[in-house]
Amino acid sequence: MEEKPKLNISKSLEELEKGRKLTPGAVLGIRRPYNFVEGEYPVYFEEGKGCRITDLDGNEYIDFLCAYGPILLGYREEEVDEAVVRQIRDKGFCFSLTQSVQNRLAERLIDIIPSAEMVVFLKTGSAAATLAVRISRSYTGKKKVMRCGYHGWHYWCSEVKGGIPEKLQEDVFEFEYNNLESLEKLLEEHGDDTAAIIITPVGHPTADKIQTPEPGFLEGVKELARKYGAVLTFDEIRTGFRVALGGAQEYYGVEPDLSLFGKAMANGYAIGAVTGKEEIMKEAESHVFVSSTFFPNSLSFVAAMKTIDIIEEKKVLKDIWAKGEKFLNRLHELVDKYDVGAEVSGIPPMPYITFKRDAEKLYKSKRDDFYTQLIRQKVFMQPYHHWYICYRHTEEDLEYSLNAIEESLKYLQDKYNK
Ligand SMILES: Cc1ncc(COP(=O)(O)O)c(C=O)c1O
Repeated sequence: MEEKPKLNISKSLEELEKGRKLTPGAVLGIRRPYNFVEGEYPVYFEEGKGCRITDLDGNEYIDFLCAYGPILLGYREEEVDEAVVRQIRDKGFCFSLTQSVQNRLAERLIDIIPSAEMVVFLKTGSAAATLAVRISRSYTGKKKVMRCGYHGWHYWCSEVKGGIPEKLQEDVFEFEYNNLESLEKLLEEHGDDTAAIIITPVGHPTADKIQTPEPGFLEGVKELARKYGAVLTFDEIRTGFRVALGGAQEYYGVEPDLSLFGKAMANGYAIGAVTGKEEIMKEAESHVFVSSTFFPNSLSFVAAMKTIDIIEEKKVLKDIWAKGEKFLNRLHELVDKYDVGAEVSGIPPMPYITFKRDAEKLYKSKRDDFYTQLIRQKVFMQPYHHWYICYRHTEEDLEYSLNAIEESLKYLQDKYNK
């Protein structure tokens, strides 16, 4: 099986060199080249439409990263962008006081999210997660936090520790997804002083298989939260508006006290939200300070209202699930056919291929080779992060991408199974 020819990404690489002098690392965090396959993936995009994105060198890809989650419908979804442009032209969006569209969106969330009785809007998921922890600490008068999953970059949960005094994380403990015992053990020791348990209802660890909740797991976490008087938060920043309109809590039938939403809610416009039980949320009325110049900026509210309209009118989630189910089934067939250590995980809106870890660490070069062959076929998937199916992926886009995946698996088979 021939290697696919390398893409020309020279403009991206030139821009990267310029960027390095302007911004530390040129681009931040997970968007840095070493988080893809260095030298193979573009670093800068120029535009996107539907499920396609174009890089600086003019290469057009079918995209499965969806801007790390916000793109639920597609890039430049006209109805959403038009609603935003109308708001800019006709009303404006940045004022000293709040525009009433905030209430309309809050009413909408309270209507569709099972556990939502009140809402606070912010502009990022990290800010929402930090607010939920602060509310929980204020409400319970306790300080410890049990967490499971990625919750952003703020002091209390950043996994990279530079610049963070140890004491800011000394009351935060991590437990394992689908392992109630690991939480129970922590609570036996710290339960009396535990304010918050925060968990992503679907496990999506970086560079690892997606984990769905085993029967009784989320219920068990909730029971432990009750037993120890801790506030339970579901971090639905990725699952919200994808797994179901009311989030994973609706799909799995377990209601937390608080939940976090962001990403897909506004199809790309910056938004975060904490929702939850009135009695707990009311802490943010007087005891907890939450404020930003930009939190009431209404463009994302307008975008979210329109995105939710479209989700409902066009039965977007049903469409994504149907396409995703078919896609996931085909991935399983392909991975069974080519015995190269690839593993399929995920749920229909969020599929993923990782590689079985082995003592010789061959899985790392298999991963690099697999994703190199994919990007060279202009299928944009992230080696260290699960993929997303969006509304604008057509059956043809998915078929093309499955063929590209099969070609990449064949390449691995020829290279590694001699
Ligand atoms: C589950 C989860 N929580 C919180 C965050 C942080 O959100 P943001 O990047 O908008 O600050 C993310 C971002 O990827 C996330 O996936």
